[in-house]
Amino acid sequence: MTGVLVMGAGAVGCFVGGLTQLAGVPVHFVGRPRVLGALRKHGLRVTDQDGLDRHIPPLQLRLHEEPPAGLKPDLVLLCVKSGATAAAATELGLTLPEGTPVVSLQNGIANTPQARALAPQLHWHAGMVPFNIAELAPGHYHRGTGGALAAQGGAADVALAAWQTALAGVGMKLKLHADLAPVQWGKLLMNLNNPVNALSGRPLRDELLERGYRRVLAALQEEALDLLDAAQRPVAQLSPLPPRRVLKLLRLPTPLFRLIASRMLRIDAKARSSMADDLAMGRTTEIDALCGEVVRLAHSLHRSAPLNACMQALVEDWPRRRRAYTPTELLAAMGLG
Ligand SMILES: NC(=O)c1ccc[n+]([C@@H]2O[C@H](COP(=O)([O-])OP(=O)(O)OC[C@H]3O[C@@H](n4cnc5c(N)ncnc54)[C@H](OP(=O)(O)O)[C@@H]3O)[C@@H](O)[C@H]2O)c1
Repeated sequence: MTGVLVMGAGAVGCFVGGLTQLAGVPVHFVGRPRVLGALRKHGLRVTDQDGLDRHIPPLQLRLHEEPPAGLKPDLVLLCVKSGATAAAATELGLTLPEGTPVVSLQNGIANTPQARALAPQLHWHAGMVPFNIAELAPGHYHRGTGGALAAQGGAADVALAAWQTALAGVGMKLKLHADLAPVQWGKLLMNLNNPVNALSGRPLRDELLERGYRRVLAALQEEALDLLDAAQRPVAQLSPLPPRRVLKLLRLPTPLFRLIASRMLRIDAKARSSMADDLAMGRTTEIDALCGEVVRLAHSLHRSAPLNACMQALVEDWPRRRRAYTPTELLAAMGLG
């Protein structure tokens, strides 16, 4: 590959872009001054829970505040949050040659169709990042959980296949799927923990060890699964148990859960959902791309999704509350007490 462009150098962009560069592919990072400044000063360090620890010195990083004119990357990785998709897709559409392949490595379902509608001359692929990445220090990005990247495509998608081969060289798997929608919905179900985690004010591991929070998560997932069944949309199994069995697991008393869910609990002690950081820093969250997507699915079936709607409202109300919910408070606020 002659070059990859990362649009949105943040947690996902820096980690996945960093791995891509470590695999020998020239990578251009487009980001905000805060992140670019840190990368210019410290370089880019990528670490993971399996002992990876690599550093790219500042002089080897190609950093830009906007997509450079005239660049013809083999592949673009769209790594902005959902609220920034429209602006980023428009910028890419104005700069890149027609037909450039772009993979959205974003959560949610609607980002790729939204981007495609704004820049139809580019070749859009949905993608999925299964693991959690946190910025541990300026320029230092850490993968705290496991799993393989996924994208919609096949062997005929030359750039994706080349990226797949490059990533394999640094131990990162990329699975290509003819239809990524079941995988995206499977990930969305798991991401329904993001608002629960954010409102709990606790690291992911501590939150999952509280049965009250797990009951809220199970209720959100069950509501979404019932709607997906009604819409006859298949959901991929992304964890060792099928999604309906996960509900049972989540509702177990904590001592049993701790025993059986040891794999689910294999999370860095400090890892949090990025929505927790968004709330802490007063940034727009991706709640509309998660619970909001379940509510839209319900409406498309002329049904409602009261629990996901309630969770969306609680997250949107955070600026007025700014105090974490205990498990009992969250159950009560959701009408599950
Ligand atoms: N972090 C994770 O663990 C994780 C895991 C799986 C999937 N995801 C998904 O991946 C996506 C990205 O998440 P993230 O955590 O990497 O977000 P992030 O850390 O906020 O990174 C995105 C970066 O892109 C910047 N940006 C936005 N629009 C831009 C533009 N037009 N030009 C240049 N830079 C721009 C943002 O700046 P501003 O903040 O100023 O907009 C931010 O610095 C989300 O959909 C998320 O749900 C995240």
